[in-house]
Amino acid sequence: MPAVFGMTALDFLNDALGELEASGLLRTTDADGEGLLDVCSNDYLAFGRERVSRATLLTCEGLPTGAGASRLIFGTAKQHLALEAELADWTALESALLFANGYAANVGLLQALCRGGDWIVSDALNHASIIDGCRLSRGEVRVVAHRDVGGVEQALREGRGRRSWVVTESYFSMDGDVAPLRELRQVCDAFGAGLLVDEAHALGVFGPGGSGLCRAAGIAPDALVGTLGKAVGVQGAFVAGPSVLRRWLWNRARSLVFSTAPSPLVAQLALLNVQRARGADAERARLHALADELRARLRTAGATVPSGTGPIVPLILGDDARALRAAAALRALGLRVQAIRPPTVPAGSARLRLTVSCALSDADVAGVAECLIRTCSES
Ligand SMILES: Cc1ncc(COP(=O)(O)O)c(C=O)c1O
Repeated sequence: MPAVFGMTALDFLNDALGELEASGLLRTTDADGEGLLDVCSNDYLAFGRERVSRATLLTCEGLPTGAGASRLIFGTAKQHLALEAELADWTALESALLFANGYAANVGLLQALCRGGDWIVSDALNHASIIDGCRLSRGEVRVVAHRDVGGVEQALREGRGRRSWVVTESYFSMDGDVAPLRELRQVCDAFGAGLLVDEAHALGVFGPGGSGLCRAAGIAPDALVGTLGKAVGVQGAFVAGPSVLRRWLWNRARSLVFSTAPSPLVAQLALLNVQRARGADAERARLHALADELRARLRTAGATVPSGTGPIVPLILGDDARALRAAAALRALGLRVQAIRPPTVPAGSARLRLTVSCALSDADVAGVAECLIRTCSES
């Protein structure tokens, strides 16, 4: 270890980690979840937990495991193109372009699209990858209150004369509520602004054939970000939109240009799961029924569950230490659940972010609600 006068350059990290621990914000690895009931993953359709079958493996026989380079250099395989065509069809947009993951998709999209002098209006509860994309772009960012169409309109008025963008999640990952997409589209049209929608948690869950909340609302965003590691149950992400956008991202999205393409093998597995997700109406109906049941049981017991819909059910506890205590107590009862604390959520709104998957039984949901009610009233 390189040392100067007995110290190393990384020693300060011990103090910084100590401070995080003292303030209840230290994150540790989650290696002890085996055997617990999953109520925290994003595997909503329960595809991601399935063990790969021989039949699936046979469809992958002969495929290269690695892409070999960035898409621009060497990396485009038939499997990428087939998956992109499927994704464009699913979202009813002209084209799609794969990224390694949703973080890279948001960062690449915003950095490439929003240029010097642009004006970006961003929902206060947008995901970190959107925030980081805004930071990497050369645009000026105005953060507006959560789901506040009036605030968006006011911000666009202030930005008049500049190229403007509104960026939002469609189904908010930590709150389980839905953006007012139709109204946002109208306001964007009135001001000539582009609408960028992150459907990471909505694809596979909402809309016709699981095609997301934009299609459910009957609107077309200027760019749609979707992920393949959540309801689709594999890995990767994409940006869908007009083909001029795809061509631009191909040239200018640094997280695409300077990064190895997704494995063709993974692209093939994602294609199979997207096709399954499109046909999973029965699973979606069950998912929503289970989530409604969990919300209803928690509310009846007097818990603070914000208005929302779908498989993300936040239980707001407020205090970071209380959320940690509740999560630990629930794990002791057999539930795999995480305390969500700042900076993932605003200070003072620490919570248990519960998620439902269609792998849960009715009895599981009743048991989960009972454990939560008991634990949260005690912690
Ligand atoms: C709203 C949202 N967008 C993007 C991402 C990033 O997606 P990925 O996990 O594929 O990097 C996440 C991940 O949790 C998310 O919640």
